Amino acid sequence: MSLILAVLLWAALAQVECLHFNFPNFQDENRSQLHMGNTSRIFLGAIQVTPDVMGAPIHNFSGRTVYKKPFRLWSNQGQKTASFNTTFVLNIKNQTSPAGGEGLAFILAANPNYPQDSSGQWLGIVNPSSNGSIQANIVAVEFDTRKSYPDDLDDNHVGLDVNTINSRAQVSLNPIGVYLSIAVDVTVTIRYDGKNLSVFVGQEDLKNSLLFSEPINLSSYLPETVYVGFSGSTGNLTQLNCVRSWEFSGSDIDEEQQLWWVWVVCVVGAALAVLAGCAFYLYRKRKTELEDPEDAYPDIEEAIRGCSRAPRKFGWKELSKATGKFNPKNKLGKGGFGTVYKGMLGNMEVAVKKISKKSTQGKQEFMAEVTTIGYLHHRNLVKLIGWCYEKRELLLVYEYLPNGSLDRFIFYDDKWSPAIQETTTPLSWEKRLAIICGVAQALDYLHNGCEKTVLHRDIKASNIMLDSEFNAKLGDFGLARTILQKEQTHHSTKEIAGTPGYMAPESILTARFTVETDVYAFGVVILEVACARKPGGQTERDNYLSNIVHGLWELYRKGRILEGADPRLKGEFTREEMECVLLLGLACCHPNPNKRPSMKTVLQVLSGEAPPPEVPTERPAFMWPPMPPSFKDWDQSLTGSQLSPFSDFTGR
Ligand SMILES: *[C@@H]1O[C@H](CO)[C@@H](O)[C@H](O)[C@H]1NC(C)=O
Ligand SMILES: *[C@@H]1O[C@H](CO)[C@@H](O)[C@H](O)[C@H]1NC(C)=O
Ligand SMILES: *[C@@H]1O[C@H](CO)[C@@H](O)[C@H](O)[C@H]1NC(C)=O
Ligand SMILES: *[C@@H]1O[C@H](CO)[C@@H](O)[C@H](O)[C@H]1NC(C)=O
Ligand SMILES: *[C@@H]1O[C@H](CO)[C@@H](O)[C@H](O)[C@H]1NC(C)=O
Ligand SMILES: *[C@@H]1O[C@H](CO)[C@@H](O)[C@H](O)[C@H]1NC(C)=O
Ligand SMILES: *[C@@H]1O[C@H](CO)[C@@H](O)[C@H](O)[C@H]1NC(C)=O
Ligand SMILES: *[C@@H]1O[C@H](CO)[C@@H](O)[C@H](O)[C@H]1NC(C)=O
Ligand SMILES: *[C@@H]1O[C@H](CO)[C@@H](O)[C@H](O)[C@H]1NC(C)=O
Repeated sequence: MSLILAVLLWAALAQVECLHFNFPNFQDENRSQLHMGNTSRIFLGAIQVTPDVMGAPIHNFSGRTVYKKPFRLWSNQGQKTASFNTTFVLNIKNQTSPAGGEGLAFILAANPNYPQDSSGQWLGIVNPSSNGSIQANIVAVEFDTRKSYPDDLDDNHVGLDVNTINSRAQVSLNPIGVYLSIAVDVTVTIRYDGKNLSVFVGQEDLKNSLLFSEPINLSSYLPETVYVGFSGSTGNLTQLNCVRSWEFSGSDIDEEQQLWWVWVVCVVGAALAVLAGCAFYLYRKRKTELEDPEDAYPDIEEAIRGCSRAPRKFGWKELSKATGKFNPKNKLGKGGFGTVYKGMLGNMEVAVKKISKKSTQGKQEFMAEVTTIGYLHHRNLVKLIGWCYEKRELLLVYEYLPNGSLDRFIFYDDKWSPAIQETTTPLSWEKRLAIICGVAQALDYLHNGCEKTVLHRDIKASNIMLDSEFNAKLGDFGLARTILQKEQTHHSTKEIAGTPGYMAPESILTARFTVETDVYAFGVVILEVACARKPGGQTERDNYLSNIVHGLWELYRKGRILEGADPRLKGEFTREEMECVLLLGLACCHPNPNKRPSMKTVLQVLSGEAPPPEVPTERPAFMWPPMPPSFKDWDQSLTGSQLSPFSDFTGR
């Protein structure tokens, strides 16, 4: 109990502590101090408030990044108001000519997340329904790079917005020769002394750089505690909205009341702890009730009934018996979402996946599997035979594939299967080519062959299964999503999906998955099969050099692409075929998603109907460097001139 009190006391003291922080630049480690929403990222040492990806469209985005810890703005019914000083450096680069679109803003807001439909002219501040209402609860200093309304001064101004996008005060930057959207650093200082809010632009001493000072009582518009940060948007016209450094210092409102606060917080805290205990108990109880088979069956069964050739429903007992009560001896493997066991149903061999109860995505994954592969039938897809949901256990039954997954055969330094590595000869080139073709056919079927486009979203060697004749079968649809063909061309998700090493550069930054991101992952698989190397690092700078795509591209640039082929093949392949496959792999891994071939084209190339796609010898930089001069060192590593040769790879 005394421990709890001590924690509460500490929390209470922390609560009344003033807010002060300084980010001279932004590193990945700083993410934990920021709340970044689903569109902002830390990249190139700055906050990219709206996405920054070359090739992928960045139209119509809004973004909001705030400091995680809220700032206490007032107390005592607004009689006491805090003051603050903040200085930050903006860098906005137009992606359209002549000006950019739309703008960036410093905000004090009740909500850490941007409102829906706040892209374009709304700057991520308000949306059509919250504009002008006190519920918006936001005060913003906008740096507007577009004249979107008749009363906007021009496409280069600073304004003070209170619960609306129409500024209460605004000043053009043109007279002082500061242009916002030309990719230069603009230093801004904002001060609030409890009465006046003043904005300074420029690096000269503050006296000479005052832009405007506006009397405002923030307590009448904002709640007691607010989040401080930035919002921004793009529209038809786009720009890269980035914040390179940020210092904030907010005053402590009421020192003499600190002790009083400590007591209040302690009492409230203790009461809350008791309440939370009760709530948790009730929640657990309710959750248990909800998950009871009787209660939970309807929605699962209904969703499955919608599928034309629905998989069979099994009883738990039947599957438990088939797998010897899930005997560890029958374990075939373990994935992110569950464990797979071998089983015998009658005299049919099956693989039974038991979805981990701990996995929060477990149920979603289960539904995705059953409803996606439930109605897909293709000889290169793993067949789902049935499912079971009983005793709060989610189980999936698949055809059994004796040779397991592809990764066991291609990576010869794999610690998982040393026995296989030693005793079996490497897969022949013909077999590998057949595997690539099989996966390509499966993927073409998913993308183009069914009524709805299906995105697999997690194509990788360990999700490709091999039957006794080494025919490839794509499996693990736990992350798959269907999208209606014409309605949408991408799928957006907030959850983290996919596997590092197989994720296209744009999906890491925008968290969007498209047919092109599937093609990228397929390209990585092609290269793995041909080169017998793991995909290696992701785009993080340190791992960058070990990435299979970058390494092979470097060999290609030097005109030595065939040296990338798996040395264990000992040259036993047709050079033209190998070269064609390697080029196809690189083409699928083009940094620009629009340049990647479709699965249709891939099939034509593999069948010899079309020549391999043209691949630039210099790997195109995948990012649009937002501030070219200062990020030169990055550019060089990106274009590959300093990449180590492929033979130096660790292979993991
Ligand atoms: C941001 O991260 C860097 C690197 O870990 C760290 O040194 C720095 O203190 C962090 N900045 C703040 C304000 O916490
Ligand atoms: C803001 O800066 C002014 C001038 O330097 C200073 O007097 C004031 O105390 C500062 N306020 C905060 C909260 O740091
Ligand atoms: C940005 O604006 C400048 C000046 O009008 C123009 O020259 C440049 O092409 C624009 N940038 C882009 C990417 O359109
Ligand atoms: C937003 O709200 C303000 C204040 O109610 C109003 O004057 C303005 O016309 C609105 N702007 C738009 C674009 O709807
Ligand atoms: C607020 O600013 C106005 C001018 O912009 C000035 O006249 C007034 O004295 C300032 N008030 C305070 C409290 O600083
Ligand atoms: C600011 O507004 C609050 C709430 O509307 C009010 O209680 C307070 O007196 C005002 N402060 C000043 C200095 O006018
Ligand atoms: C954006 O462009 C489309 C046509 O491409 C046009 O219909 C629409 O009005 C434009 N929106 C804005 C806000 O300019
Ligand atoms: C952006 O949104 C506007 C308004 O909803 C729409 O007219 C326009 O087509 C969109 N632009 C793009 C490039 O998607
Ligand atoms: C981000 O989240 C908002 C709601 O919080 C949602 O409307 C939007 O579609 C999401 N965007 C992306 C790119 O996931």
